[in-house]
Amino acid sequence: MPLVTSKEVLLKARAEGYAVGAFNLNNMEMAQAIVQAAVEENAPVIIQASQGAIKYAGLEMITAMAKVLGESSPVPVVLHLDHGTDYKQNVKCLRAGFTSLMFDGHDLPLEQNIAMTAKIVDIAHSVGLPVEAEIGSVLTIEGLLSDAEMAEIRAMEIPKQFEVLRKKIGPAVDEHIAKPEEAKRFVEETGVDFLAAAVGSVHGLWLDVWPLRVDRLKEIYDAVQIPIVSHGSSGVLIDRAQAEAKGVELLPGEGSLLDAIKVGYTKINVATALSMEFNRAMLAAAAKRPGEKDPRKLLAPARDAVVAKTKEYIRLFNSTGKAGSSTVSSQSSGALGGGSVARGEE
Ligand code: G3H
Ligand code: ZN
Repeated sequence: MPLVTSKEVLLKARAEGYAVGAFNLNNMEMAQAIVQAAVEENAPVIIQASQGAIKYAGLEMITAMAKVLGESSPVPVVLHLDHGTDYKQNVKCLRAGFTSLMFDGHDLPLEQNIAMTAKIVDIAHSVGLPVEAEIGSVLTIEGLLSDAEMAEIRAMEIPKQFEVLRKKIGPAVDEHIAKPEEAKRFVEETGVDFLAAAVGSVHGLWLDVWPLRVDRLKEIYDAVQIPIVSHGSSGVLIDRAQAEAKGVELLPGEGSLLDAIKVGYTKINVATALSMEFNRAMLAAAAKRPGEKDPRKLLAPARDAVVAKTKEYIRLFNSTGKAGSSTVSSQSSGALGGGSVARGEE
C-alpha cells in the first residue's frame, strides 16, 4: 500500500494501548529488513531517516526505497524524518514525499523552539503531514562520555556498568528532563502532533539497562494528551522484571519501557540496537569467510539478523497483528526482494 502518515498509525496505537516501532535505516538492507519484519509480524511500522542517513544515501534514494517498500507491503509503512534540525530539511523531506516530519529544536531557548516548531507545523499541516518535536533534551552518550571512558565502562561486568553510568551521567540526564507545564504550553502554542519529551533516556547506549522517569512521563502525557515519542530507546530498561538481573535499582518514580508504553509512549525510536546487530552479523559473516569477494554474502546475514531483532522489538511493543484490516499474504514476496543470496543467485 502507499506510504501512510504517522498520525494514522500512532493515534490508533494510543487508543488501543500499544506502541509502534520507529526504526532507523542506514542503508538499503536495513530498510528492507525493517519492513520485512513488520510484514512477518503483520504490524504497522515507521522507517525513519536521520539527516546523517539522508546525507549518506541521498534524499531521493531514501524516499524511493521507502515508497517501493511501502507499496509492495501489505502493512502500513510510514517514512519519517528523524531529528530534522532546521526548516529547510523539513521542507525538503515534505517535498520529497516523506509522510511524517520532525523538528528537533531541543538546543534552542523555549521561545525559539516554539516559534520554529509552529512554523513547520503550519506548512506540514497545510499538506496533511504530521510533525513531531522535542522538548527537554534527550542527550547523546558521546556528548557525555569520552571514547576512552566508554571503552573502560564497556569492559566492566553489566551490573557495574550500570552503577558507573548512573554516577557519571545520571545528574546531567536528570537536568534535561522535560517539565510538564512547558510541555503543555509547547503543544498548545505549536499544534505539534507528537511530543519527543525527554524523560531520562540517552541516545546511543549499548545496554538495555537505563530506567525512565515514568512518573514524569505520566504527568506530561496527562498534560498534553498526544502520543509521546521515545528517543534513545536502545539503552532503556525494557521490563522492570529484568531490573535485578541487570543490577538496576529502580528509584522512586522510575520504570521500564513497558511501564512507559502504558502511560503515553507510543512511537518508540530504535537505532543503535539495530545498527549494532547489523554490524555484529556482518562481521561474524566476514570472519567465517575470509577473503570473500561478494559483499552480498556478508550483507545478507546482516539483513537477516536485523529482521530478527526488529521482530523482537515489534513483539515487545505489542504491535504484532495490528496492521489494521490488511493481512499478510502468503503470496507476498516480502521486502527482501527475493530473500538472502542463495546458491545460484549471484
Ligand atoms: O532518533 C532516534 C532514536 O532516538 C534512537 O536512539 O540509537 O539510542 O536507539 P538509540
Ligand atoms: Zn532520537
